[in-house]
Amino acid sequence: MDLDPQQSTTEKLTEVAPLGGENIMLADETILTIPEADVPLEDEVDRLAQALSLKFEELTLIHQFSERLKLGEDSAEICQSLLQELEPCINASTVAIDLFEDVDLQSPRSFLFTGERWDPDWLSEVAVHAIQNVAGGPASPGSEPVAILNNPSQDSPAFVRTVVIPIQRDGKSLGRMIAVRPIQEDEFGTVEADLMKSTSMILAAHLINQRQYIEIQTMFDGMIQSLVSALDAKDSYTSGHSSRVADLAVMLAGKLGYDKQGIKRIRMAGILHDIGKIGVDDAVLRKPGRLTEQEFEQIKQHPVLGYDILKENKLFRKILPAVRHHHESWDGSGYPDGLTGDGIPRDAQVLAVADAFDAMTSDRPYRSSISIDQVVETLKSGRDKQWAADVVEALLDTEAVEQAKQRSKNSGIGE
Ligand SMILES: [Fe+2]
Ligand SMILES: [Fe+2]
Repeated sequence: MDLDPQQSTTEKLTEVAPLGGENIMLADETILTIPEADVPLEDEVDRLAQALSLKFEELTLIHQFSERLKLGEDSAEICQSLLQELEPCINASTVAIDLFEDVDLQSPRSFLFTGERWDPDWLSEVAVHAIQNVAGGPASPGSEPVAILNNPSQDSPAFVRTVVIPIQRDGKSLGRMIAVRPIQEDEFGTVEADLMKSTSMILAAHLINQRQYIEIQTMFDGMIQSLVSALDAKDSYTSGHSSRVADLAVMLAGKLGYDKQGIKRIRMAGILHDIGKIGVDDAVLRKPGRLTEQEFEQIKQHPVLGYDILKENKLFRKILPAVRHHHESWDGSGYPDGLTGDGIPRDAQVLAVADAFDAMTSDRPYRSSISIDQVVETLKSGRDKQWAADVVEALLDTEAVEQAKQRSKNSGIGE
């Protein structure tokens, strides 16, 4: 039987069954034909069982792969896990994904492999040769054909059997999936092509979604940066404080066992923790001397002001507890809500320590930074009084303390 590489397993199933039998449609619209009485029943049952098992294998693979797709995850990692799933089903010496360069997203071309590793340019040449053999000329972007080349001509860059499946969607070429097998082994057929085609379609849809996600993420990061720039412009004396607190909070979160999502969240919370200061009077914010009680009351509004600014946007929802409570104190003497101990959200506990450390190690309008030994002493004596003890321990264990010591030595502070 001559099998068309573009043909789906569904069509193939219809084709392998004899004409004239009764048709049955399965839940996924696969049509199975029950053979007539004069066809040896055992042969047909075997054939149908085999076809069903192939279909089942394909669906299982797609299901497993779909479950792993998560927006925001690195495309290369997703492709690599797809290849791990695909390899045992394809039985090729090499299965590779060639993800094309994306100029808009500034992502470079990447080549992922399982099995034998090839020089990417050479494997790409083999793939293009196979496509040209099938299409009879250069393929147009976004509408490359599926190419199965089992018997390469002498001018082929490599004497191997090849399947090339485009990864494309909405007229956009995103990459190719390539499987290679030595010429001494069996020919590739529609079984392998179908498996690769199904997975490449899901991958293409995911990559397009991923693209949109990255675009939105970039816009979102730009928006955050604008907010921080507005705050830095208003209070130039503490300019850079937000990003230093964010870096330190990330370092602490790493030591405290935060997962990837948690680290992302605490970075954003660190960057935006003081955003409410946008709503505080410039004169109070920039005052060089000590603050009056009334002025201090105004400064104390900033966590709630920040909370109010951010609460309208659901993308900030996860950082609201940290923004609102980063000035709470372990013993309940903090603000704005006087929370105590474990009642203080964990992100806020971490931010509070990072925030205090940066405030104590940098100059402020009303004082110069204090010596690092004094900072360490203050932090130690504030364990379980002002700050969570384990967060303070984590900080004392970071290189931030050593770096601050070095900075103070260079600037002569505390000598
Ligand atoms: Fe603050
Ligand atoms: Fe702060």
